[in-house]
Amino acid sequence: MHLKHLFGSTAVFQTLLLLAVPTSAQDVPGQSIEDDWAPTPFTDFTDNILFYPEANAVNWHTLYARTLQLPDESLLITWENYPLEPPLVNHPIWKSDDGGSTWYNYSQIEDQVNGWGMRFQPFLYSLPVDFGGYAAGTILAAGVSSPFSLEGGVWIELYASTDLAQTWEFVSHVAYGAGPETTANGDKALWEPFILLYNGQITVFYSDQTDPAHSQKLVHKTTDDLQTWSDAVADVAFARQADRPGMTTVAHIESTDKWILTFEYCGSGSCRVHYKVADSPLVFDAAEAIELHTNDSSVATGTSGPYVIWTPHPDRDDGSGLIIVSASNRDWVFVGEDNADPEGWKMVDTGHWSAYSRSLRVVTIKGQKKLLYGNGGNFGPGDMNSVACAVLPIPS
Ligand SMILES: *[C@@H]1O[C@H](CO)[C@@H](O)[C@H](O)[C@H]1NC(C)=O
Ligand SMILES: *[C@@H]1O[C@H](CO)[C@@H](O)[C@H](O)[C@H]1NC(C)=O
Repeated sequence: MHLKHLFGSTAVFQTLLLLAVPTSAQDVPGQSIEDDWAPTPFTDFTDNILFYPEANAVNWHTLYARTLQLPDESLLITWENYPLEPPLVNHPIWKSDDGGSTWYNYSQIEDQVNGWGMRFQPFLYSLPVDFGGYAAGTILAAGVSSPFSLEGGVWIELYASTDLAQTWEFVSHVAYGAGPETTANGDKALWEPFILLYNGQITVFYSDQTDPAHSQKLVHKTTDDLQTWSDAVADVAFARQADRPGMTTVAHIESTDKWILTFEYCGSGSCRVHYKVADSPLVFDAAEAIELHTNDSSVATGTSGPYVIWTPHPDRDDGSGLIIVSASNRDWVFVGEDNADPEGWKMVDTGHWSAYSRSLRVVTIKGQKKLLYGNGGNFGPGDMNSVACAVLPIPS
């Protein structure tokens, strides 16, 4: 996480849309509060706003959306939500039964142990196997709990739902920082958990400010039972103390059995999106950090909040696939082949709004593979933010 405001053209566009209400509502897809526009169920669409924060919401109002698909093809979305407190903030879970067209308030992940609220960076993960006393299909949710004052400590928490996200129970504390929970160099903050099953262990990746040798570094912890966590192991840590790699996401390149980690490289790296490729998601520390840029004459880069996925290629059935990376400053996505060649990235237009840490997930809509985009807003002024999604063909 970094505090540079992002005033991309998309954010400005969103503001214009909000100002245009209600006279041009017919022309303006996405205004799902002021009008009742919603895409036709189970179709492809962009820019579908599903939640507007209250006008008196605080901070960024909404931010950082994460999604999940349930076995019946319904979709879940969660985000950082900042209504006026009290009551304590939580991570809302909204659900769609019609391919992302309409959404409803389904449940929420509340802080059950700290009395602080679930404040930052939710993440959802469906357990693919029985693990730690939980059956396959259990939904794990990680998130950052800290007080409204941001003083007094911070936990990365793990919650679980055994009833497909209707109810949630606390599982364990993953990591602790003494706070304050700010991005100031020297503050013992934690951010941005990302969950992965690898080699019989659950791994949680996150951003760590607790090591004085690094303003921020990226680390992971592993567990065999969801209760006891290993010491933190570095994934990305630069020699220059002020450097701030942030916002880990990881994907498995199945065809090569390699792993890719994308991150924003703030500090010396100007928050540009970088990546590492390794033989296992546990050994990224030794891998080279590569700046992501397109291989055409524009040499376009991405800034902040990357999200990486790997997917089987939509047009081939030889086992090869594509690596897709979203960056906060771009509507377009970066697409590369399985070798993650530094000179093998192109950009593909999505036609969908950018967002700070816009999430990507391959989902199945009526049996067809699609790419679900989750937007929580652009990290600028809160009154420009809302939660939105798109469902589109997999770009290639
Ligand atoms: C969802 O509904 C619950 C129960 O009515 C409510 O407390 C909560 O604020 C709602 N969440 C959002 C994000 O509106
Ligand atoms: C650029 O990358 C794309 C996507 O991997 C690839 O199809 C194309 O051949 C590359 N172009 C050059 C000049 O290497």
